[in-house]
Amino acid sequence: MSGQEQSIGEIVIRAVPAAEIIDLRHQVLRQGLPRNTAIFPGDEEPGAIHLAAFSGDTLIGCATLHRNSFDHQAAYQLRGMAVAPSHQRHGIGALLLAEAERRVISQGVNTLRANCRTPAVPFYRKHGWQIISAEFIIETAGPHFKMMKIIRAADTPA
Ligand SMILES: CC(C)(COP(=O)(O)OP(=O)(O)OC[C@H]1O[C@@H](n2cnc3c(N)ncnc32)[C@H](O)[C@@H]1OP(=O)(O)O)[C@@H](O)C(=O)NCCC(=O)NCCS
Repeated sequence: MSGQEQSIGEIVIRAVPAAEIIDLRHQVLRQGLPRNTAIFPGDEEPGAIHLAAFSGDTLIGCATLHRNSFDHQAAYQLRGMAVAPSHQRHGIGALLLAEAERRVISQGVNTLRANCRTPAVPFYRKHGWQIISAEFIIETAGPHFKMMKIIRAADTPA
């Protein structure tokens, strides 16, 4: 395993090209909508990081980091966080978030933000995220809250 991979048990998290995760995003986050709704502006930007969780050769989770800013400070926006339904609630999302934090810190940035689906808010809260907006609707994906996390060095695994 290279230093660019994070693994726990049989699950390996590694960065992949955007094209590898679009089908999973589509299945979990844009079901019933055209596949191209799962392709996000900025996916092909050089600073974008696409994390994939694999069980063996099977893709079971994904998350994307888009570099931008928040409150005039460098920040990463977490997008497209998705775990295959058969693997949800087994800690894969937690692994993806931990690796996202590690990548953000390694880029010298400590702020993560996201538009979080309302049903997933407790998941993000559990990992130290805070709500920073009123609830709002995204047409393709339902009710959301804006959330953010300031990552402290002590939060990130070595
Ligand atoms: C939300 C999601 C990414 C979390 O990943 P996961 O691998 O299922 O989460 P983990 O197993 O690491 O953590 C689960 C824990 O988070 C908390 N949690 C609370 N509400 C939750 C919810 N709706 N979904 C998942 N976890 C939730 C619980 O503490 C849960 O533990 P429990 O199952 O013992 O109660 C995943 O469930 C998913 O893809 N859901 C559908 C798409 C989605 O909502 N994506 C987020 C878009 S913002």
